[in-house]
Amino acid sequence: MSHRQRELESIEQEFNLSKEKLQAITKTFVDDFNRGLSQYNEPMAMIPTFVTGPLPDGTEEGRVCEVHLHGDKTFTLRQQKYKVSDTLKTGEARDLFNYLADCVDAFLTNVSDQDLLGESDMKLGLTFSFPVEQTALNRGKILTWTKGFSAQNAVGHDVVQLLQEAFDRKHLHVECVALVNDVRMTTYTTPHYRFGTGTNGAYVERVSNIRKLANSPQDEEYMVVNTEWGAFDNERHVLPFTRFDSKLDRKSINPRLQAFEKFISGMYLGEITRNILLNLIDACPAVLFGGHSTRQLNTHYGFDTAIMSDIENAKTAKEIKEILFNNFGLEEGLISEEDTETVRWACKIVATRAAKLSATAVAAVLIQTDQVNNRGEDMIKIGVDGSLIQHYPGFEERLREALREIVGEEVEKRILIGLAKDGSGVGAALCALQATKSTTYY
Ligand code: GLC
Repeated sequence: MSHRQRELESIEQEFNLSKEKLQAITKTFVDDFNRGLSQYNEPMAMIPTFVTGPLPDGTEEGRVCEVHLHGDKTFTLRQQKYKVSDTLKTGEARDLFNYLADCVDAFLTNVSDQDLLGESDMKLGLTFSFPVEQTALNRGKILTWTKGFSAQNAVGHDVVQLLQEAFDRKHLHVECVALVNDVRMTTYTTPHYRFGTGTNGAYVERVSNIRKLANSPQDEEYMVVNTEWGAFDNERHVLPFTRFDSKLDRKSINPRLQAFEKFISGMYLGEITRNILLNLIDACPAVLFGGHSTRQLNTHYGFDTAIMSDIENAKTAKEIKEILFNNFGLEEGLISEEDTETVRWACKIVATRAAKLSATAVAAVLIQTDQVNNRGEDMIKIGVDGSLIQHYPGFEERLREALREIVGEEVEKRILIGLAKDGSGVGAALCALQATKSTTYY
């Protein structure tokens, strides 16, 4: 075996996940679900959303912000993206929320359908994609920041209040009436998972299982729970940490937090791959690019996960060379055919491990909701969204392969994976609508 093969093989072994390992991770996942359901302040927060049955069934009518629900399960969406700078992400919360209010203002002025704007205050549903301990449909304290945010004076504060105060400071006639996480059920009755920049899962739990709820809604049998599974195994009992993961974690904005998210989400996969490539460049003797690197390749988070997907999609070595030249300034002369294979291999092992670990989360929800023992014929529907599951080549197939190992082929065959695109906006709109017509619990 050549030196190169030995190097690659030893790394590949670290990334391999046996059937037993996948099953052990899934078991710990279910245990952690139950810990989070039993008490507060657990790493996996298992946040009750106070969204209870009857869940919206897709027939509601009404207009909320830019989402126009047609009442026949269809909707039209006007949207505009606004970029949040790193300075805002890490500065004072007040500045961040002022900026959010400015974005809403700009949206109402430039994008909104002016015919829909009435005399009264605009009701707004806020999708806030961070862990929030919700106490009512329009109330919730920020538990912690994730995904590169660390704005001061936000953790422990009510996020709706922070935004409302910003609206009021700017005399905007907007009232924030509902708060949702982006993972909240978008297909209403099926569990929903996000595999994108961050990762999360939500599902319908029996209220009686949410043991930590002192003031549970008496007559409700079910409630949507936002698991915040990105924080699964922060204690590092079962996740298969490699030196590449530890390096990523140590240099991240939130070391020892969001352990699971760092293994499987779009924000981090490119960085893990970059760590592997640098290791091979630095190996003695070098096994990649003849030991050469570039400024871009040496840059923290310089390897975007979207590039991994381009590389796995590439048909020829030439295409990979072009990608490496265009994105990292690697001269063609420095890249051998073998190097292109090595880069593709690195992307593949990182993405495959991510897809397989994603399957442990999905399987854990199926087990928790008793869908695995129930050997019926019915299809098991799950809703997913996020760029990885939508665009990464082979992600779903790799996820399914792992599901077969964890819950068996019979169950895997019954799983229908549906894309729930535009889920965040519509989820918030539905919640704002619900807020105007239902009771909230405190
Ligand atoms: C992070 C956030 C979570 C969100 C997920 C997907 O894990 O903590 O709230 O749902 O990213 O955006």
